[in-house]
Amino acid sequence: MQITITRPDDWHLHLRDGAAMAAVLPHSARQFARAIVMPNLRPPVTTVAVAGAYRARILAALPQGVSFAPLMTLYLTDSTPPEEIRRAAASGFVHAVKLYPAGATTNSDSGVSDIGRCAAVLAVMEECGLPLLVHGEVTDPAIDVFDREKVFIERILQPLLLRHPRIRLVFEHITTSDAADFVRDCGDNVAATITAHHLLYNRNAIFAGGIRPHHYCLPVLKREQHRQALLGAATSGNPKFFLGTDSAPHSQASKEAACGCAGCYTAAAALELYAEAFESMAALDRLEAFASFHGADFHRLPRNAGKITLRQEEWLLPTAFAYADGEALVPLRAGERLRWRLLD
Ligand code: DOR
Ligand code: ZN
Repeated sequence: MQITITRPDDWHLHLRDGAAMAAVLPHSARQFARAIVMPNLRPPVTTVAVAGAYRARILAALPQGVSFAPLMTLYLTDSTPPEEIRRAAASGFVHAVKLYPAGATTNSDSGVSDIGRCAAVLAVMEECGLPLLVHGEVTDPAIDVFDREKVFIERILQPLLLRHPRIRLVFEHITTSDAADFVRDCGDNVAATITAHHLLYNRNAIFAGGIRPHHYCLPVLKREQHRQALLGAATSGNPKFFLGTDSAPHSQASKEAACGCAGCYTAAAALELYAEAFESMAALDRLEAFASFHGADFHRLPRNAGKITLRQEEWLLPTAFAYADGEALVPLRAGERLRWRLLD
């Protein structure tokens, strides 16, 4: 059995930079026509000029003959000037602005410490229609790590949408039924991305037989009831929900450590993993819209013309890929069987 669908896009991807980027880019370019590229580099991508230079490095690192469009984003800070947002909207290559609450995740130290300081910037985004991509977790250490998404909705997202009711907003990598319900109940200006790992795993996977660093990401995996809600949202056909892998490469040494980094590397087999999740819901016929239509429509970009084919065929994912500086990159499902295979 095989399925052929319109070539998909990844609406949330970490490509890193330099040798790390060169190592992972071919995986995404093989699977996707375009990707929204996260700006959490060190230093972060805070201006259109820096985003333009980063985009040029990505294009230069593409293997010959491979076509892949990086859709750039700006990293919002407390001091992003409104003029930078206007420049971004006019650039033609910056497609969104990313909100990281300061300290929420990898390289978020320069993120927003007080969203109230961004009112002028958010007003310009509302006016220009430039989407805000939101890492939706509070950073308050008093809030349990499993509740940070739900509390973010109450403390930050609801008030923000009351102040900026027309802002186009993507609630990124949602992990709870609370987030899925919230997005469903908002207007058409609010959507969400869902990762493959949050569709396939619940929080037990982090502790299965021992601590499993390759199942640690942020927002952290949640209870089974939340995974079920995400599967329901992704396979519902609702155009508010679309594919965003949040594939986030970290070297093996930095994951398998006393204080391991957050992030699952899924880019090498992303569509295979999503296909497995959709198959589990007997909803393979809904995969194309989720992977190839809803995100493009929300971002007001044309749908892709090409096609890809997934065949039901077992294969073994490598235990590791080569990464930067002679290090290894361990993918999610390393050395394990996959049920679907993307054909070349
Ligand atoms: O698990 C994660 N890894 N979550 C994020 O939000 C950031 C990402 C990264 O950049 O490694
Ligand atoms: Zn991310």
